[in-house]
Amino acid sequence: MSKYFPQGIANDEAFCNRENERSAVSACIESHEHLVLIAPRRYGKSSLISQVLKENHFPGTCIDLFFVLSQSEVTKSIAEGVSRIVNEIMPATKAAGKKILQSVATLNPKLTINLLGQRIELSAKQSEEKSISELLLALDEIARKTKKTCVLVLDEFQQIGELKENHAIEAAIRHAVERSTNVSYIFCGSKHHLLNEMFSDKSRPLYHLCDLMMINRISTVSYQNFLNKMAKSKWKQHLNEDALSEIIYLTENHSYYINALCRRLWREKHAPLISEVRKSWNEYVIQQGAWIIDELSRLTLNRRKVLVTLASEKTKEPQGESFCKKARLSASGVKRALNDLIKSDMVLKSQDGYYHILDPAISYFIRNSH
Ligand SMILES: Nc1ncnc2c1ncn2[C@@H]1O[C@H](COP(=O)(O)OP(=O)(O)O)[C@@H](O)[C@H]1O
Ligand SMILES: [Mg+2]
Repeated sequence: MSKYFPQGIANDEAFCNRENERSAVSACIESHEHLVLIAPRRYGKSSLISQVLKENHFPGTCIDLFFVLSQSEVTKSIAEGVSRIVNEIMPATKAAGKKILQSVATLNPKLTINLLGQRIELSAKQSEEKSISELLLALDEIARKTKKTCVLVLDEFQQIGELKENHAIEAAIRHAVERSTNVSYIFCGSKHHLLNEMFSDKSRPLYHLCDLMMINRISTVSYQNFLNKMAKSKWKQHLNEDALSEIIYLTENHSYYINALCRRLWREKHAPLISEVRKSWNEYVIQQGAWIIDELSRLTLNRRKVLVTLASEKTKEPQGESFCKKARLSASGVKRALNDLIKSDMVLKSQDGYYHILDPAISYFIRNSH
């Protein structure tokens, strides 16, 4: 049953709702537009994109840039990703494929193409920045010639902004994206302020290249329906209402944690009672103790004070007298620490104006240790 609450990408029957986001992303791809998709880690960006590609049969691939440490690693990752899509969109017959590759090669003689049976590998021999746009432009050319459209997802894209050569890489990507007719680009990332700088700062090459879309947590109503459907499928009955509310309350609608908790609950022979939900969550968070303590121990004292105070109450007025008193900090001290916590994605300001700890396991852990 754990396939219904996966730890990794959620698709198909494991995928809950996101109707609006799904239609927004697919409309964007259908009209050959590009998109920046932003949400904190583990909110469901990769699952959303994968689901949209799957249900619309859009050819596409995701290039994960989380671990890239240099420009040549970026080029290598892009070459691999482009090769994957080219393999997907190439005509089935070898002769037709060869013809297309040759015509691309004539258009761009610096491109070396190896045809190993039906597998195609692309690599560029230009200088590093040039080869990035060369590879991306070649992909567009091949897509145009095969009369296909495809999607290139650049995940954890903020990592590019952290590299020494970021301007050159960003400029190379802009060059290709602006000329693209058949490839839609989705730039995905979890560091809001870094991505915002990359796409909204006038001095950066990717300034105003495409629209920014944020995704939030899935609504309570959607999760209630989804979890009841899963309960019916497992135990032939809906969840007890208190237990259902408790799952959503403890995990704060955070997809990763809903899945982590429900994976445990759905192993049982009977549908959980509220006490069992609490027990299971408590055990789960205790198991997470090591990394949570590690994360907290890296914070400065002032940031920890703000975090501990926020764990017991979310607030609209962090610089108000009551919050500052509880945190034992001045208003300016709170402001500074809070800004740093927001920048590092530990604290979030919700749409309703409340500041709260982003990770429900961390806030539960703090509450239970104080
Ligand atoms: N729409 C969804 N329905 C159900 N589970 C989801 C959904 N989106 C994400 N998840 C779950 O949440 C966790 C994080 O999802 P993922 O797509 O990897 O997030 P991100 O790419 O933002 O880090 C995974 O356990 C995944 O199965
Ligand atoms: Mg992801």
